[in-house]
Amino acid sequence: MYVITGANGNVGRRLAEILLAEGKKVRVVSRNVDRLQPLAHRGAEVCMGSLQDEAFLAQTFRGARAAYVMIPPNHQAENLRAYQNRVGNVIFNVLKNAGVDYIVNLSSLGAHRPDKTGPVLGLYDQEQRLNWLEKANLVHLRPTFFMENLLSNVHLIKTRGINGTPLRGDLALPMVATKDIARVASEYLLELGFKGIVVRELLGQRNISMNEMTQILGKAIGLNNLQYVQFSFEEAESSMIEAGFSRDVAQSLLQLYGSINERIVIVGTERTDENTTETPFEEFAESFAAAYGAG
Ligand SMILES: NC(=O)c1ccc[n+]([C@@H]2O[C@H](COP(=O)([O-])OP(=O)(O)OC[C@H]3O[C@@H](n4cnc5c(N)ncnc54)[C@H](OP(=O)(O)O)[C@@H]3O)[C@@H](O)[C@H]2O)c1
Repeated sequence: MYVITGANGNVGRRLAEILLAEGKKVRVVSRNVDRLQPLAHRGAEVCMGSLQDEAFLAQTFRGARAAYVMIPPNHQAENLRAYQNRVGNVIFNVLKNAGVDYIVNLSSLGAHRPDKTGPVLGLYDQEQRLNWLEKANLVHLRPTFFMENLLSNVHLIKTRGINGTPLRGDLALPMVATKDIARVASEYLLELGFKGIVVRELLGQRNISMNEMTQILGKAIGLNNLQYVQFSFEEAESSMIEAGFSRDVAQSLLQLYGSINERIVIVGTERTDENTTETPFEEFAESFAAAYGAG
């Protein structure tokens, strides 16, 4: 039995689909049963509840041999790291008490650092915490920035005719498609051959700047002159707060953007065959165009 958390999410949903297609027994966790129906139809056992509810999760993990765990984003958290640690502790306790043998943990590039990484600090804490699970075999997946993050810019492009973030436009960033993360997670979980603690970075297919990504997205949506604008931190903070983010989450994200711009994290990670994955940004641009058309 496999347990998949965040099963409505970018990585969890695709991972569950792969495991079900391979005929595995899968329990999927979410707070929203309706959205899990497609997985239920493929044979998944659906468990509705919150990752903050230890009694619910203990029940869900009972008898599981392997699990995919992640700490969901929470843009409204008053104190992001405290929220991440609350969820992280629940996950740690249920994995330990259920004696799960094989665990794939979704972490992030930069989770080796105890400072300057904003939302990744909670993932640093979680890696450290899970490393205490003496009997389990553990993979920390450390992906780079998700291509899917750009989907949140559909509204900006539609309303202001520009693409933008606080990241420098000329900085070549590793960008990964979440389906590549799910594919790698599935390989570990299908084989169950990993031992001890494994760290796997995932850098996507190539490094690419925001300027170049904007050109590719522009072409895909029929806006050939779409321009990239680097927003000031002040402008980005007020837009995030206006969009419903807590001040702490906004400031945390800006800390991460600042560290990326200064090449402290994400940028500069050495690319190897092992950390390079297959999906090019051009392929993501097609799904971006579909979302743009529907949005
Ligand atoms: N974005 C990036 O560039 C990036 C890079 C590296 C690492 N990461 C890490 O990747 C993770 C996000 O992965 P993802 O994009 O695959 O996830 P996602 O798409 O954000 O989905 C997370 C899912 O978790 C569920 N969820 C939220 N709160 C929950 C709760 N309290 N209890 C149970 N389920 C809950 C939600 O589904 P329901 O509403 O159905 O419950 C949601 O679909 C985060 O830990 C993030 O830090 C992100």
